[in-house]
Amino acid sequence: MTLNPPPIKNPFRPGAGHMPPYLAGRKAETNEFVKLLQQDIILDNMILTGLRGVGKTVLLETFKPLAMQEHWVWVGTDISETATVNEQNFAVRILTDLAVLFSSYVVSTSTINKLGFTTASEREKTTLNYDTLLAVFNGTPGLVSDKLKYTLRFIWECLDGLVKGIVFAYDEAQNLSDQEGKDQYPLSMLLDVFQSIQRSDIPFMLVLTGLPTLFPKLVEARTYAERMFHVVFLDRLEPRDSRDAILKPIEDMGSPISLNEDSVEKVIAISGGYPYFIQFICREMFDALIQRAGEGLALEVPVEDIVRKLDNDFFAGRWSKATDRQRELLSLVVQLKSADAEFTVQEIVDQSRKSRRKPFSNSHVHQMLTALANAGLVYKNRHGRYSFAVPLLADFIRRQADKTPTLSLESRS
Ligand SMILES: Nc1ncnc2c1ncn2[C@@H]1O[C@H](COP(=O)(O)OP(=O)(O)O)[C@@H](O)[C@H]1O
Ligand SMILES: [Mg+2]
Repeated sequence: MTLNPPPIKNPFRPGAGHMPPYLAGRKAETNEFVKLLQQDIILDNMILTGLRGVGKTVLLETFKPLAMQEHWVWVGTDISETATVNEQNFAVRILTDLAVLFSSYVVSTSTINKLGFTTASEREKTTLNYDTLLAVFNGTPGLVSDKLKYTLRFIWECLDGLVKGIVFAYDEAQNLSDQEGKDQYPLSMLLDVFQSIQRSDIPFMLVLTGLPTLFPKLVEARTYAERMFHVVFLDRLEPRDSRDAILKPIEDMGSPISLNEDSVEKVIAISGGYPYFIQFICREMFDALIQRAGEGLALEVPVEDIVRKLDNDFFAGRWSKATDRQRELLSLVVQLKSADAEFTVQEIVDQSRKSRRKPFSNSHVHQMLTALANAGLVYKNRHGRYSFAVPLLADFIRRQADKTPTLSLESRS
């Protein structure tokens, strides 16, 4: 009887918010955060921004233990599901998160008295649990922001120097929106509350992560947001770091499979150094190599198969949201020299005049870019220029153009 060797596990993890087997690079960004933790008076909060899949969520996750080492408390939440959040819900949400952390923290009677509160029963101990926080919140007159400010101050007084400060970390913060029609301003409220709290020297720091639309959105809500935040833009990994992201996980597991220089170069080239794509490609490649090794085949990286799978799994769904005319417009965009960085309405109009097809008018391009932005394919930056909102989308569109002149996706079954 022969025993089969244990199956080789694939270490790579493509997937939103999945901690990679090895978090490559990001040293400078981490140092920026550590620097902010040294503040006694908060002058700078952090925004961690970048395209989808660039590694914001997992980097934020690694900040948490760093903050805790420096005696900060960390409260955080993902606000992707709260697009319609109103001020009251958001405030209560913040208090709920705090209550989870502090519910067993007993507040001394002298503090309670000093703050002018009477407890239900003198003998009962007051803790910073949800009921207490909500009682303080509801007992404060004024707007939701006044109530929240007061309650946060109350918490800080009660903690009485026990911790260095509190980090409030909100992932996918671009989902917070002020809604004039509904008279709800949760985004402005967040900024107002923290600005006011920080002005009274309370070390409560905001760390927001989100797509590149986040910072312009904050500045639009409150111009002072520009001075309140230190913006860190996460980009593709440097080639050296990409190499680590590819090789370290394989080395660390003592895998019988090893990659040659040529394969590493290929992965770096196809992924463009974007972390999600590195994980995706390496996962596919690793599976394919295991299979080939099992079948006694030469270990070659099946580049074409991997690119085809990437196109199907990642890009095709997004591309299918665009209409034919929008795809035509995007195919003009990728002909521009600056397509991978940013482009303007005028550049697209000029490019369209050069093509044999019916040209696009200025207002038409405007309209279509707005529609494409709503579909999450492009975004408008603060200077009114546009960029692709999906990494490597331009390369994908170029691949489609090579395949079929009409740019429609062939169905692959
Ligand atoms: N520095 C990195 N090194 C290696 N892989 C990374 C790195 N950052 C992110 N990843 C991987 O990239 C993918 C996307 O990360 P995620 O944090 O969800 O991105 P975002 O929040 O920006 O959309 C995940 O599979 C993650 O494991
Ligand atoms: Mg994320």
